[in-house]
Amino acid sequence: MKREKLLAANWKLNLPAEGIAAYCAAMRGRGAADPELVVSPPAPFVDALVNESKGAGTGFGVASQNTSQHDQGAFTGEVSARMIAGLGARYAILGHSERRTLFGESDEMIGQKLAKAFDAGLVPIFCIGESQETRDAGKTLAWLDAQVKTAMTTAARSFSRLVVAYEPIWAIGTGRNAKNPEIQEAHQAIAGMLEGLVPDDCTLSILYGGSVKADNAAEIASLSEVDGFLVGGASLVSASFLSIWGAMRR
Ligand code: 13P
Repeated sequence: MKREKLLAANWKLNLPAEGIAAYCAAMRGRGAADPELVVSPPAPFVDALVNESKGAGTGFGVASQNTSQHDQGAFTGEVSARMIAGLGARYAILGHSERRTLFGESDEMIGQKLAKAFDAGLVPIFCIGESQETRDAGKTLAWLDAQVKTAMTTAARSFSRLVVAYEPIWAIGTGRNAKNPEIQEAHQAIAGMLEGLVPDDCTLSILYGGSVKADNAAEIASLSEVDGFLVGGASLVSASFLSIWGAMRR
């Protein structure tokens, strides 16, 4: 498995105050392509972001924040992976803890979503992570293993690119990022769990997410098992998101 660096923004149900055009101009004006940048807007803005990603300057990838486990039918409110791919987006965040806890997504359902994303040619940004309670009980790695195995064996697809985001629930939006040894241990374990579930020639990125900011990014990015970040709050201002990108290049 090859590893590749990547930095992804998750706007969640927000738009940047500076406006989409200005935000995207800043992304394109960064002056270098590596590591790749991905921006995940709310679904109605995927089309606009894809268009903005191709303007003058350095391009960036676009992700949806969710896609359905269904292709079509009587599923009010759903958006299919094929529709998102048809807009020109390359990625889909799947299994975010907010989808799991607030919208009842199970590991099996996320596996079905992964399958549809792969079939549509999207690269999943597959999110996993434990609660505070699970960590306190010393069951973090077993929890992550179950999340990975159930979803990947349900998906049962061959693919050449996968992004996994390790986001401890207790670190999301709390200002309390995981400590370096916790991140390194989880990422190392996740890479091991994926062996046998991911094709040997697959390119993999394992991102950390949870209270990543410009002032802690450089230190976390220096960990050998960290390929990048999935950033919520600090991705809503282009300057702060780009300083995280800058920290990854050091
Ligand atoms: P914060 O960066 O706001 O903690 O959010 C992390 C996250 O959930 C990204 O998907």
